[in-house]
Amino acid sequence: MRRLGRLVMVFVLLAVDAAGQGMGDCSDCHRSVAESFSRSAMSRAAINPVFLAEWRDKGHDPACLGCHAPSTAAGVACVDCHGPGGHPYAPVAVPDTCGRCHDAPGEVTVRSFRDSSAARNGKTCLDCHLGGNQSHVFIGPSDPAYLRDVASLRLALAGDRLMVAIRHRAGHSLPGGTTGRAAWLVVQGRDGAGAITWQERRRFGWLNAESVWQDNTLPPDRGVMIEIENPGLADSVEVTARLLYSRRAGVEPDSGTGFQELSRATMILR
Ligand code: HEC
Ligand code: HEC
Ligand code: HEC
Ligand code: HEC
Ligand code: HEC
Repeated sequence: MRRLGRLVMVFVLLAVDAAGQGMGDCSDCHRSVAESFSRSAMSRAAINPVFLAEWRDKGHDPACLGCHAPSTAAGVACVDCHGPGGHPYAPVAVPDTCGRCHDAPGEVTVRSFRDSSAARNGKTCLDCHLGGNQSHVFIGPSDPAYLRDVASLRLALAGDRLMVAIRHRAGHSLPGGTTGRAAWLVVQGRDGAGAITWQERRRFGWLNAESVWQDNTLPPDRGVMIEIENPGLADSVEVTARLLYSRRAGVEPDSGTGFQELSRATMILR
């Protein structure tokens, strides 16, 4: 096992080197673009430790590299979006070019974007993911600050039902991306001493149940109303709803780590 680990490390070091040279050609002249892109998660998609661990578990399946490192070994490269043609380059077709990797089984980012009000209003992926000055950083949820103010929650009681309204501002379903991403709604009642008296959880994201992909993401624009019948709130003085975001498959909110709060709403009951 230990020997295998060393071989993989050697491969990774070679990979970084090869990629650095590959991008050097373009970066000779497009220095600021290349510098921006080197800060993106995409430019390191095949050398980030989370990918490497999962790739090893999948027996280093070459199919993974079709999206994670199609032309240079470290990750996505200039030619993967601009094409191999050379100057003059045609404008990059957005979102078609993105869809080559961001539209896959277990993922609806590009498809849900096409149906969104963002697309109808003439926005593209770049309006939300390039940052202010058309740089190539392709910011996204790997930067926690990106998720600030993305979603909102409202709570209401109607007879014996607790209603939780969820809205978000992503230009596609939330979470965008594949199975590893999830948003969790955690609703808790608390007594006068602050102890949890009741709780309910819902997961939003993709599920691969017996090899059938199920889309349970939060769609864009419309918002989602969750109704909880007969919540056990008899002993509670307040109820709090939180929407949490995780980038790790199979991790539940109880485990604590790796969750970011997208939004929170509290209602005083008595
Ligand atoms: C994920 C896709 C993607 C990758 C990877 C990418 N670009 Fe771009 N690039 C775009 C898009 C989209 C535009 C916007 C203009 C357009 O439609 O061509 C653009 C614009 C440009 C422009 C013209 C405008 C400007 O910002 O100066 C240059 C030059 C450029 N890219 C160079 C590069 C270089 C060099 C690399 C590699 C270091 C790279 N790109 C990697 C998608 C990409
Ligand atoms: C020898 C210098 C040089 C190299 C190397 C170079 N470019 Fe350019 N590139 C230019 C110049 C000059 C322009 C036109 C002015 C501008 O937009 O910055 C340009 C423009 C572009 C544009 C805008 C659209 C167009 O064709 O005018 C893109 C996209 C682009 N380059 C991508 C790349 C990519 C990808 C690579 C690497 C495969 C690369 N360039 C390598 C000098 C270079
Ligand atoms: C109106 C703004 C907006 C537009 C337009 C938009 N996005 Fe997003 N995107 C977001 C926000 C906010 C998030 C974070 C919440 C989430 O995961 O849905 C996100 C998340 C993502 C993610 C998840 C990344 C990850 O690692 O989990 C990907 C991939 C993505 N967007 C790609 C795209 C592509 C491709 C397009 C165009 C087809 C696009 N986005 C259009 C705002 C936008
Ligand atoms: C060759 C495949 C490929 C293409 C083409 C591609 N992407 Fe990506 N993209 C990826 C991969 C792989 C990742 C995951 C990187 C990671 O998290 O390690 C990613 C991640 C992202 C993220 C999340 C970044 C973050 O920090 O969370 C955004 C946003 C994104 N891509 C937008 C785009 C847009 C917009 C386009 C089209 C202009 C595009 N991508 C084209 C493969 C691609
Ligand atoms: C069709 C394109 C595509 C293929 C094929 C693909 N991926 Fe991805 N992968 C992506 C994109 C795009 C992202 C980033 C955003 C998202 O979740 O969509 C990603 C994200 C990931 C992440 C999360 C990285 C992080 O930092 O959170 C891991 C791990 C991963 N992929 C592993 C794999 C493995 C292992 C394979 C092969 C069995 C594979 N992928 C095949 C497109 C692909």
